[in-house]
Amino acid sequence: MYSRIAGTGSYLPEKVLTNFDLEKIVETTDEWIRTRTGIERRHVAAPDETTCDMAEHAARRAMESAGVGPEEIDLIVIGTTTPDQVFPNTGCLLQARLGIHGPPAIQIEAACSGFIYGLSIADRFIRTGGAKCALVIGADMLTRIVDWTDRTTCVLFADGAGAVILKPSDEAGIMSTHIHADGAYSNLLYVPTGVSKKHDPAVANQHCVIMKGSEVFKVAVNTLGRIVDETLEANHLDKSAIDWLVPHQANMRIIQATAKKLDMPMEKVIVTVQDQGNTSAASVPLALDTGVRDGRIKRGDLLLLEAFGGGFTWGSALIRY
Ligand code: COA
Repeated sequence: MYSRIAGTGSYLPEKVLTNFDLEKIVETTDEWIRTRTGIERRHVAAPDETTCDMAEHAARRAMESAGVGPEEIDLIVIGTTTPDQVFPNTGCLLQARLGIHGPPAIQIEAACSGFIYGLSIADRFIRTGGAKCALVIGADMLTRIVDWTDRTTCVLFADGAGAVILKPSDEAGIMSTHIHADGAYSNLLYVPTGVSKKHDPAVANQHCVIMKGSEVFKVAVNTLGRIVDETLEANHLDKSAIDWLVPHQANMRIIQATAKKLDMPMEKVIVTVQDQGNTSAASVPLALDTGVRDGRIKRGDLLLLEAFGGGFTWGSALIRY
């Protein structure tokens, strides 16, 4: 028994913030942002919009594309690090919106790897008979936790949501998922405060993302290279078998390094970073939905999804779409 993606959906907030807009907020230039990151513009949520609002739009679109109603869904897994509230978890809030009563709603906090973690968990539920129709979402509103005076982070992060419906299938489907974490790197990318930790008056902007960008960059490139090897080896496949790389969209140079490792031309990589920035857990399902809806990704294609984020957490999924 395998799980198979029956439908995809995504959502981006209406407001677009360009690099030129950012030039008016912090000391930066369109040229710096474009050449260092590949980002040209990004979407930013409206003041009254929440992560659950974005997740609901993406979920409804995925359900519509899979031809699935709320009564069929028996598992919700949502990756987010920017939940609406401490609790109920965003999956519970979403459940109420969709009129789903009873099935488990799991929220995963794995930063940018949240969707891949969620996919891995839902896939295991389906393969072991624990679920028959899973809604898996990645949704984040990082613009609410960036310091808008810190040019090293505020130019990178953005908002959005992406979702898939997973169903059981005799044929793969999701061929394998691989998820990892190493908390030894927790000081390179983090938000200082949470709920239980005492506030440190010496730290400014305690609720905002702090990142040692160039160190994150190096570890991300190496780690993603390793997980590509791990995924191919686990499936006894050569890199030439992959039709599409669907990477986490943090930085064009990181994406290019992974594509190079796979000997893949950039035409075989779904790239959205220029228009969307880093939407954290939403970035991989947003890229997947983009590739599916514009007709590049077709049924039967072999996809390699990968992500890397704060924790550090990282993961991949090999999927026969
Ligand atoms: N505009 C203009 N200059 C900026 C800037 C900005 N927005 N942000 C940083 N700079 C400056 C720095 O202050 C530094 O100046 P200095 O040399 O005078 O000290 C210079 O640019 C180089 O900074 P550095 O951090 O070394 O640049 P970089 O080439 O490593 O690029 C990142 C910075 C953040 C784009 C890059 O490190 C990166 O993408 N890292 C990974 C981030 C990531 O993926 N995070 C999420 C993981 S999920």
